[in-house]
Amino acid sequence: MKSEILRLLKESNTYISGQQLCEQFQVSRTAVWKVIDQLKKEGYQIEAVRNKGYRLIDSPDVMSKAEIESLMDTKWAGSNVVYYDEIDSTNNRAKEAGDNKAPQGTLFVADMQVAGKGRRGRVWQSPAGSSIYMTILLYPEISPLKAPQLTLVMAIAVAEGIKEVTGLDTKIKWPNDIVVNGRKICGILTEMSTEIDYINHVVIGAGINVNQDDFPEDIRKTASSLKMELGKQVKRSELIAAIMKSFEKDYEIFVKTEDLSGLQELYNSMLVNLDRDVKVLEPGNEYEAHALGINKTGELIVRTAEGEEKEIYAGEVSVRGVYGYV
Ligand code: BTN
Repeated sequence: MKSEILRLLKESNTYISGQQLCEQFQVSRTAVWKVIDQLKKEGYQIEAVRNKGYRLIDSPDVMSKAEIESLMDTKWAGSNVVYYDEIDSTNNRAKEAGDNKAPQGTLFVADMQVAGKGRRGRVWQSPAGSSIYMTILLYPEISPLKAPQLTLVMAIAVAEGIKEVTGLDTKIKWPNDIVVNGRKICGILTEMSTEIDYINHVVIGAGINVNQDDFPEDIRKTASSLKMELGKQVKRSELIAAIMKSFEKDYEIFVKTEDLSGLQELYNSMLVNLDRDVKVLEPGNEYEAHALGINKTGELIVRTAEGEEKEIYAGEVSVRGVYGYV
């Protein structure tokens, strides 16, 4: 009921009477008042006027199940939100829910993680109050070999969501970092549970730097946040809802062909490495090449100094800019 009341308040530009809310949800006036009181305590500015009702004046950067669900405009992606003020890792919670067959598209969101995980076994620092840590649970009926491509689908959706909410043009550093002005603002970690030829579930987690003003010394030179780029705060819940809307659209395009052919052009238009020289870091082998874009399975096509075209696979290889991170 809380999410629905919030949604009604947000959609209405005038007062909504207490009576209307009681009738709509078949509850007492006291029950409605309690929800309004909770919302006020969470930071919403709600005006209550006798004989008129309630009106939402302002909603701050609240993250809660009710706030996120009230903004969600999707059929299945993120329509069911599991929210934590503090958790080990949203990827871990999504995997556990996948083992228990929670619905497709369930979204796990946290304000803080105490065991946030990055790619290649790294730690993802996850302090409270300024970031998005979220993971979506999926049951794609595709070969496990194709699942890594879903990471690129999420990268597109994050870039689209950021554009929609803030107007900011971001880029993708192959395969799945989102960057602005050469600095990373989002990382994505996909994990899956599989049989030899069958996926039990896939979880895709995204960590997005939204309202940070600064970063720890070790990542200060390579990280940025949306606030640092835009000079103003961004409402995290709105961004989550926008990313889920894009993700649902992009995922449905992906599953039709079970590859990125329907998204390849869009991805390449966002690719920061496109038509640039990159340093390819293969285990035990490092070389410079010219990046030509991704193919329909998400490999990066590069042209080596000898003129040979190679398709590089993200699992084993990463790329850097010749002079730095991008
Ligand atoms: C990277 O190393 O670039 C990937 C970082 C992924 C971080 C996100 S935050 C939400 C989800 N939960 C985790 O523990 N990791 C991912």
